[in-house]
Amino acid sequence: MNNHITLGEYIIDNQKEFQYSSGELSRLLSSIKLALKVVNHEVNKAGLVDILGDAGDTNIQGEDQQKLDVYANEVFMRTLVNRQIACGIASEEEDDFVVVEGKNKSHDNKYIILMDPLDGSSNIDVNVSVGTIFSIYRRVSPLGTPATKEDFLQPGNLQVAAGYVIYGTSTMLVYSTGHGVNGFTLNPAIGTFYLSHPNMKFPEEGNIYSINEGYYIHFPQGVKDFLKYCQEEKDDRPYSARYIGSLVSDFHRNMIKGGIYIYPTSSKAPQGKLRLLYECNPIAFLAEQSGGLATDGYKRILDIKPSELHQRVPFFCGSKKMVEKANYYMSKYPRGANY
Ligand code: AHG
Ligand code: MN
Ligand code: MN
Repeated sequence: MNNHITLGEYIIDNQKEFQYSSGELSRLLSSIKLALKVVNHEVNKAGLVDILGDAGDTNIQGEDQQKLDVYANEVFMRTLVNRQIACGIASEEEDDFVVVEGKNKSHDNKYIILMDPLDGSSNIDVNVSVGTIFSIYRRVSPLGTPATKEDFLQPGNLQVAAGYVIYGTSTMLVYSTGHGVNGFTLNPAIGTFYLSHPNMKFPEEGNIYSINEGYYIHFPQGVKDFLKYCQEEKDDRPYSARYIGSLVSDFHRNMIKGGIYIYPTSSKAPQGKLRLLYECNPIAFLAEQSGGLATDGYKRILDIKPSELHQRVPFFCGSKKMVEKANYYMSKYPRGANY
């Protein structure tokens, strides 16, 4: 029974998938596991505080209350820096990437990690699922030297591993090391993750579309046309609209049920809103690893060569056939000036 395989066992068992593996990636994943348990604990408490209505800016100890996304960032940064198993970290919450020295200041670690420590943070106050997203690459700079910006600006197709945590009705870790996608559910009573969703598959077709339709007026014409298609009464349409406003949660639901998530460019956000390195690349990697698709409306997300750390891109992600359909409508208009 899959239910009896723990995350720890799974990580060790699958280490052999990596040629010349030194166990470094396994140790990195174990550190993420530790940090996410700490954040999970805090996320649960934050809900409790909010339910009690104390929206003031001091916590129960009378200290200034930290925003949960800052807290999550600190936990992940601290855990990864303390364990010295990556040579560099970039986070949505940091201005620049952070160089990690490694044991004896050696700079000998071979992986870098990028993360969105808390995704969907506007949902915290209303007790709706939030997440953490991470992405791992092998460094391109020489071992023994400090990590450089080039290590972080790699296209998503070079990701070694990526995943997310969903702090939902149950807490799950979903990740891939390039050999399919597996989901693990936390048993909170004993603090252990179990393999609950082996070999996750994105349905090829779906009937859910997820987009912030409130901004409809600002969308590119291709997106408007695709939405009209989704709402048309024909075949299995109209589709259902489902939008949580937390990418991780929207993606997770669509991956299980079949659907498409879109965060397009708009006349208000001409580059889109989501960040290529911390959100789109890891989610696109998981989408493809489970049989789905992710584009910017025209081309594959994973093929974009990033030019800056906090770069934003439009994002179309989900069931293969649905994304292809959206791309088809997008292709009728030139990129950019089509609002
Ligand atoms: P974050 O909380 O990390 O800033 O990310 C929020 C993102 C994404 O998770 C979500 O789907 C989207 O922003 C929601 O944006 P809108 O409120 O504009 O729809
Ligand atoms: Mn986010
Ligand atoms: Mn965030």
